[in-house]
Amino acid sequence: MYLDHNATTPLDPAVLEAMLPYLQGRCGNPSSVHQAGRAARAAVDEAREQVAALVGVQPSQVIFTAGGTEANNLALKGIALQGGREAALVVSAIEHPSVLQAAAHLQRQGWPLVQVAPDRDGVVQPETVAAAMPAKTALVSVMLANNETGAIQDVAAIAALIRGRGALMHTDAVQALGKIPVHFPSLGAHLMSLSAHKIHGPQGVGALILDKRTGIEPLLHGGGHERKRRAGTENVAGIVGFGRAAQLAQERLAAEQARLTQLRERLIARVKAALPDAVVFAERAPRLPNTVALGVPGVDGETLLMSLDLMGIMVSSGSACASGSLEPSPVLLAMGVTRELARSAIRVSLGRENTAAEVDLFADVLRAQAERLRGLARAAG
Ligand SMILES: Cc1ncc(COP(=O)(O)O)c(C=O)c1O
Repeated sequence: MYLDHNATTPLDPAVLEAMLPYLQGRCGNPSSVHQAGRAARAAVDEAREQVAALVGVQPSQVIFTAGGTEANNLALKGIALQGGREAALVVSAIEHPSVLQAAAHLQRQGWPLVQVAPDRDGVVQPETVAAAMPAKTALVSVMLANNETGAIQDVAAIAALIRGRGALMHTDAVQALGKIPVHFPSLGAHLMSLSAHKIHGPQGVGALILDKRTGIEPLLHGGGHERKRRAGTENVAGIVGFGRAAQLAQERLAAEQARLTQLRERLIARVKAALPDAVVFAERAPRLPNTVALGVPGVDGETLLMSLDLMGIMVSSGSACASGSLEPSPVLLAMGVTRELARSAIRVSLGRENTAAEVDLFADVLRAQAERLRGLARAAG
């Protein structure tokens, strides 16, 4: 039972079908002028239109990258490098490591960096961001939805507050895409990061969406690809897959959003009935329809994850990138969750294939495993 869709999603068979011709036999570099090259260019152009349509922008605003991590790095470094080192970067404390570590790298290179904490519900308050902003700020980066708790951030309100103060707004919409409507123009942001593999597309392809009037310093230099904003021969099959996945996400969004919300509520009700002291993190925040971050007091989250895995249920403890480390989730700690409770956290992220029967089974197995681990802990004193 796969309940880890925020880590990655299964490739949709229709996406694979769209990609196959570009992996098998068909040969063409989109920069070549002959017919094979032109066919590859046409395929990339079509995918660019499909991704653009999903987020309400013009195709020229889409810069294809090798994933969400590269899009986040390009946003932060590309904007920082464009200005001087006196202009600050402001990021929320609950960002994905690809934002936090890119920002930390820039800080080591001399850029002032400010981190903004969320409130206890995992929400970054717009007024807190505005108050924390140094007078000279190059970029503010606040994600649209958090990968661990699913908490949705009011990016439009933050953008409205910081616009007019000379700063640009970036949002990492990797987890929001395909789960809630993501309309770039309504967010008021200047840059937005996307990733294909969270929407049943292939891994290793993503995009940075750029406001028409916003320029960016490239990180990769070479040919004039992606309108001179990201050099390198395009990953044609990957980009085609991203386009098809975007098209499918658009078609299925409304129905999936409603279905997953119901499934999420069922899961929470069943878990609370099975384990009355279980905690749902960010429960009072508006959240993604598929994500539930749970605290199971008295149980180690990593051990619980492995016990569930042995029972054939795949979840995550915090974010995939942080799992394996013994430190509790920085996102939960930033929300003021105690270290002890944060250590007990697991993340369940539902997806297209999950059913009500699976959710019920999950709650039963969770109770059995949590009780077993608590018994072992008691026996060990
Ligand atoms: C919020 C968020 N941003 C960025 C990324 C990175 O995307 P990618 O895996 O495509 O590099 C992830 C992936 O876990 C994520 O959850």
